[in-house]
Amino acid sequence: MSDTLTITDNRTGRTYELPIENGAIRARDLKQIRVDDEDFGLVSYDPAFMNTASCTSRITYIDGDRGILWYRGYPIEQVAENSSHLEVAYLLLNGELPTRDQLAAWVNEITVHTFVHENVKKFIDGFHYDAHPMSIVLSTVGALSTFYPAARNIADPATTHLQIVRLIAKMPTLAAFAYRHSVGMPYVYPDNNLSYAGNFLNMLFRISEVRYSPNPILERALDALFILHADHEQNCSTNAIRAVGSSRVDPLSAMSAAIAALYGPLHGGANEEVLRMLEGIGRKENVPEFIKKVKAGEAKLMGFGHRVYKSYDPRARFIKGIADQVFEVTGRNPLLDIALELERIALQEDYFVSRKLYPNVDFYSGLIYQAMGFPKTMFPVLFAIPRTVGWLSQWKEMVGDPEQKIARPRQLYLGAAKRDYVPIAERGVRELVNQS
Ligand code: ACO
Repeated sequence: MSDTLTITDNRTGRTYELPIENGAIRARDLKQIRVDDEDFGLVSYDPAFMNTASCTSRITYIDGDRGILWYRGYPIEQVAENSSHLEVAYLLLNGELPTRDQLAAWVNEITVHTFVHENVKKFIDGFHYDAHPMSIVLSTVGALSTFYPAARNIADPATTHLQIVRLIAKMPTLAAFAYRHSVGMPYVYPDNNLSYAGNFLNMLFRISEVRYSPNPILERALDALFILHADHEQNCSTNAIRAVGSSRVDPLSAMSAAIAALYGPLHGGANEEVLRMLEGIGRKENVPEFIKKVKAGEAKLMGFGHRVYKSYDPRARFIKGIADQVFEVTGRNPLLDIALELERIALQEDYFVSRKLYPNVDFYSGLIYQAMGFPKTMFPVLFAIPRTVGWLSQWKEMVGDPEQKIARPRQLYLGAAKRDYVPIAERGVRELVNQS
């Protein structure tokens, strides 16, 4: 047995032997397969990257068939149960869990960067009162690069480290400011005596208290949700930061592209859509009717399905446990009954079973966020805060990978063959025909 793939090109009768490494052939090895010297060479066609690895990575491992997710080798359940989000951030960025001293130094480093330049408040003020907070955050992160022009020097490890620290530290502040702007409340400055999640709750919800004390159960629940969302290998937004970052733009600009990708309803915007869907269904009794619509292709069951998981998303399972703890503090979200009924019926229906559609991370997270007092528009923002760590770990890995170059896919051109330009005076009749 050899680790190679033998290909016979039936157009020419020639045979090629391609090496297989880590379960993959190199797409560039296909280029040698040509019909003649004029031929560009064989390419692989893979719209939406259904079966194409764009990088090697040592950060996150997913086995979608078995519902497995590891951060740097550690199962997500163990990490979420025992760690804090900043500890996970250290792990994802550096590859190893921190010692006690390393963790203390890291938490301190993040904490001292939580404040934002006062001018940031001015341009957040400029957004319309009903601007979506995710739009505010994505624009503001892009604008942050104007405050830190040195960030362009991505060849310098100390400079890039500083940008990573800034982004992790300031994302909760920007997110909270975006929220306070949307509800017309004054911004609350960071309280650096609180934890990462506790301080975020302070900046969101403090009103006139001298010192805001977050509920410890909600603080821990939010931190665990942050851990579950920290990284998920080559998802749409991670692919975005890698692709945009491959042009060697500064990480703040690259991260605004990732936030834009996460904003979409098929990605991080899905938890917002789940809540709208549950509210639209209205009552548990209406669930069978809604499922019928989904099966008829008239609606999508938001929060179900995943490109990679073809079994239960391990994060969704963990989130169900967090929901129980949160609802003990906040009271049960009445939409939970509709969600549970949707899951119960969907998991029995052939439509969902045959397509391997299971609840994903977004199916239950929105219910928790709503019970904690977050408006729906904040849900994608709550995803972007912890995913910052994943994006930046992946960006750092990409920048340091000697195999990576500017990301530039090929295309299969199916358009018109070469033809001569038609002067406008000679196009009139054809145009009229086209418009009729
Ligand atoms: N409801 C109903 N049918 C679905 C759903 C759904 N949520 N998801 C997939 N399907 C169906 C598709 O219609 C398709 O059916 P077909 O084979 O008859 O055409 C089949 O299942 C396969 O689905 P695809 O769309 O080809 O799968 P893909 O991997 O491209 O999409 C995605 C994955 C985008 C997540 C999809 O399942 C979806 O739209 N889900 C709802 C949105 C959502 O919850 N997104 C969050 C994902 S998790 C995250 O980003 C954090």
